[in-house]
Amino acid sequence: MNYGRVAKYYQVLSRMIFGDHLIHAHALAAENFPKGAKLLVLGGGDGSYLPLLKDYNIIFVDHSEQMIHLAQKHSHGQVEFHLADVFDFHYSYYDGIIVPFLLDNFNDEQCRNLIRLLPPCPIVVCDFPEKTKGLQSLLIKSMYLFFRLTANVAVSKMPSIEEIMTEFSRVKTREITLMNDFIQIKKYEL
Ligand SMILES: C[S@@+](CC[C@H](N)C(=O)[O-])C[C@H]1O[C@@H](n2cnc3c(N)ncnc32)[C@H](O)[C@@H]1O
Repeated sequence: MNYGRVAKYYQVLSRMIFGDHLIHAHALAAENFPKGAKLLVLGGGDGSYLPLLKDYNIIFVDHSEQMIHLAQKHSHGQVEFHLADVFDFHYSYYDGIIVPFLLDNFNDEQCRNLIRLLPPCPIVVCDFPEKTKGLQSLLIKSMYLFFRLTANVAVSKMPSIEEIMTEFSRVKTREITLMNDFIQIKKYEL
């Protein structure tokens, strides 16, 4: 998988489909934690939302050089950037971990492998619903097709995030949704 080819257009496309909702989702995820908290963001992307997270200490991980480069332009100084694969990253302890629209790139086994690596701090996942119908289902299918063609995303359906979190004894303690439940922000704690 390589988001480098779409990095420059990612924000335009995202805003065309979702308006400001994806950006807002990152801010809502961070609001689960007090200002000044040390937050790890996995699969940070182009970081357009970073100005909204200026009151936090952010550790930002992405494996796309192009995405990191764009994100650095949105940085507010309190961001530590890591060009790294989330499966190889050396994790330490954080007040919270935000996983925004990353798990949808993985199958169940990859999600398990990632959750297994994470330290025992609260995790906030922003993502799309695992079960959809009608227009939402069509939109998810179209997004998967688009990212298969442009970023080599190999999966074509959402992983079973809730079930996997339960397997790892992570309990869902908070949930906020946007866009008629299409964007979900869920906090899991041990
Ligand atoms: C769909 S984008 C979401 C970006 C951002 N969170 C947003 O919503 O604007 C997924 C991001 O995860 C990154 N990514 C995917 N797999 C990764 C991995 N194994 N390690 C690190 N980053 C990864 C991609 O490079 C991309 O920037």
